[in-house]
Amino acid sequence: VLTELEAIAEAIETLAVRGAPAIGGCAALALALFAQRAEGRSGPEVRQLLDDAQARLRATRPTAVNLFYALDKVMAAAGAAPDDADAIRAAVVDAAEEVCTEDAAACDAMARHGAELFEDGDRIMTVCHTGALATCGTGTALGVLKAAAVAGKKIEVFALETRPLLQGARLTAWECMKVGLDVTLITDGMAAFAMARKGITKAIAGADRIAANGDVANKIGTYGLATLCRAHGEIPFYVAAPSSTFDVTLTSGAEIPIEERNPDEIRTPRGAVFAPEGCPVWNPAFDVTPSALVAGIITERGIWERPFDATARDQLLART
Ligand code: MRU
Repeated sequence: VLTELEAIAEAIETLAVRGAPAIGGCAALALALFAQRAEGRSGPEVRQLLDDAQARLRATRPTAVNLFYALDKVMAAAGAAPDDADAIRAAVVDAAEEVCTEDAAACDAMARHGAELFEDGDRIMTVCHTGALATCGTGTALGVLKAAAVAGKKIEVFALETRPLLQGARLTAWECMKVGLDVTLITDGMAAFAMARKGITKAIAGADRIAANGDVANKIGTYGLATLCRAHGEIPFYVAAPSSTFDVTLTSGAEIPIEERNPDEIRTPRGAVFAPEGCPVWNPAFDVTPSALVAGIITERGIWERPFDATARDQLLART
């Protein structure tokens, strides 16, 4: 159980908590915990404590916008509350709970909309982890696949292991097996050959930030997966993400900050020596898939489809 600011921040930094919506939910609940614990403090003292905590949490990971969405939402609620410790506390707890319940509801709605896109017999490639362990609910992309299976569609999932931290192998494959989804685990380098030989019909991934033009930042390897879909005769590549993953302040994916992680995740994963000592390494944790490679973005409010028209996006995001 994480109770201290530094432990929570480190859990996010080290990916003990990971996945865009889960990171947002965790940060929001951290603020609620600190506010609740601040018994006997004055209103201004509670505000200061929250401000210090949110500043530390904001510095944990730069790419998933859900973290900033959640912190902004909770801090705005605190800001709007009267200058009284109890009122601030209540507002922060309510807002944090709302971040989580809103995400769980978004997962359910995404699953409903997305399941329609999948058919009996589909063989679907996916990357990274997008299920219950990555969100506050059933998941984004994996939530969609689970819903398609529950609707009686016989689907097969091909999960990329997701180098270097293996979220696909450790989390997606585990969750698929746990819920009885037909899953085959392959390494990232096998994706092209699996498309050529295994009759992959569709692909789906989650997102960490979506720019105004529909460019999608997601786990490193996603851009490669989308490119391979295009190269194998327009296999539809879908993205599933809640509206909290959109950052329409950014014109395109080129403006999305991409986290670069410790080279030792590639040189010496979990202490095993995989590369020569000191070998230069580039370790971006995410990539950006141009919207031209995306068939549609499944949100809780409906599906935004290619060509990713701005008016259609605004209409979709304005839906309640
Ligand atoms: O580095 P991670 O494990 O936090 O990255 C997670 C992903 O990239 C997920 O695919 C993403 O958050 C989308 S949906 C939960």
